[in-house]
Amino acid sequence: MADEVVHREQWGSRIGLILAMAGNAVGLGNFLRFPVQATENGGGTFMIPYFIAFLLVGIPLMWIEWGVGRHGGERGHGSTPGMLEALWHHPVAKYLGVLGLFMPIIVLIYYCYIESWTLAWTFFSLTGATQGLDEAGMRAFFGSYVNLQNGTVHGFWTPFIFFFITIAVNFWVVSHGLTRGIERLAKIGMPLLFIFAAILVVRVLTLGDQTVMVNGVATTSSPLAGLDFMYSPDWSKLTDPSVWLAATGQIFFTLSVGMGSLAAYASYLRKTDDIALSGIATAATNETAEVVLGGSLAIPAVVAFFGVSGAVAIASGGSFDLGFIAMPLVFNQLPGGAIIQSAAGFMWFGLLFFAGITSSVAMSTPVLSFVEENWGWTRKQTAWTLGAIAVAIGILHIVYNTRGFLDEWDYWAGTFGLVVLALVETVLFVWVFGPEKMWAELHHGAQIRIPRFYKFILTYVTPTFLIIMMLWWFKEDALPTLLMADETPERSVVRWASRGVMLVILVLQLLLIRAAWKRRRLAGKEVA
Ligand code: PHE
Repeated sequence: MADEVVHREQWGSRIGLILAMAGNAVGLGNFLRFPVQATENGGGTFMIPYFIAFLLVGIPLMWIEWGVGRHGGERGHGSTPGMLEALWHHPVAKYLGVLGLFMPIIVLIYYCYIESWTLAWTFFSLTGATQGLDEAGMRAFFGSYVNLQNGTVHGFWTPFIFFFITIAVNFWVVSHGLTRGIERLAKIGMPLLFIFAAILVVRVLTLGDQTVMVNGVATTSSPLAGLDFMYSPDWSKLTDPSVWLAATGQIFFTLSVGMGSLAAYASYLRKTDDIALSGIATAATNETAEVVLGGSLAIPAVVAFFGVSGAVAIASGGSFDLGFIAMPLVFNQLPGGAIIQSAAGFMWFGLLFFAGITSSVAMSTPVLSFVEENWGWTRKQTAWTLGAIAVAIGILHIVYNTRGFLDEWDYWAGTFGLVVLALVETVLFVWVFGPEKMWAELHHGAQIRIPRFYKFILTYVTPTFLIIMMLWWFKEDALPTLLMADETPERSVVRWASRGVMLVILVLQLLLIRAAWKRRRLAGKEVA
């Protein structure tokens, strides 16, 4: 196919591309996952493995995925089965590429479900539904939404309606294609998100001293106490493997690496487009959104009004308690009355929604490209078909949410799987394709020269880091999770069923890859 001119859509503008890529990376992970991970894993100490992972695997993988994607895109491939085969001409390569179809689709479905909560809470903020609720009230409000068996506050259909709307908006956007859909969404959503976040950060950090009741005793707290708490180092954590795993996992998730979605976006680059600088710009934008904005919002706000012990109690309940219970409680205490409180809630959940949707459209891209490129469907057809599938499968999440269904998907596809695909991409791009060709590929059209020592890092350090992490992860975390050591029988059943659904999707995708290659052979196309 090398001589054939492959006609594919291309990004409309440099700024559109960077915003779309940054939109892909900046997501719920920056504002909900990061503060909880940092708080639970040693605060300031967490930032050490976090930045080491950023430099040694985060940035390299950003370049690798862009490189793999652009190289594949020139040969007509918008998803990893074809991209990996273009690097390694071996029949197995395309099947390894299933990971880059499987993980984004799995994560897409539950991510959209959570994104639909942010849409619902944006709406509830406007209607003032959460105003005046105390902690018990807020917990009941959230609990009834996320658990269908609990109809105390919300009607049975409410979560379904917001989920359907979320999916419809997502696939409506992608059905318009790259420039008119995704790029346009990023140009609107990303600036809005940054503006909302900046306003909220200023409001939170200027809250000043607050009187907080801790066990019936009045004490003072402030947002700065929150920052202090979040970043105060606990050196004993530095030698704790789980902290390193958590930090690496956060870097993967937040940068969207190891998923195939960055590669899918990069497949729409021109051969002469820059990768080196744009990749760094994307990573830097994400880190600004995460550490500067994400780190200054939820935890400082919650500490200001609930004190450190209150914040710890809430953060130990996880990201969702922080975002959907604690934050609305914070807004209820903001000075300035109902309008200000509504506006703050609207901005918080609105920013989460925009962060979420600019990521979820990216997750849908690999599968859309895969179907279009192999079966000749139009983007509209693929978008609405995939949307219907996402709705059908998403219903399982709504129904079984509180019994571990979602956790399984998040673990295997959203955490462990990322490292596996990252390793596959790295080995194929750096070792099989070859370090010299890799280095040349990254510099084709580049606007900067990547510092030379990064060639060493990419060739040796990144793969070694990934191998060690994967083995360690498997032993410390994946194996116990796989065996479900201390799980109640009722939840075990749901979790096994959840794995069964994933397995079915994986096998179907492998069959689709086989069918696609058969079609290509029949059509006389040389595959790579
Ligand atoms: N990076 C996104 C976030 O922080 C999540 C994501 C992962 C998006 C993988 C696309 C692909 O929320």
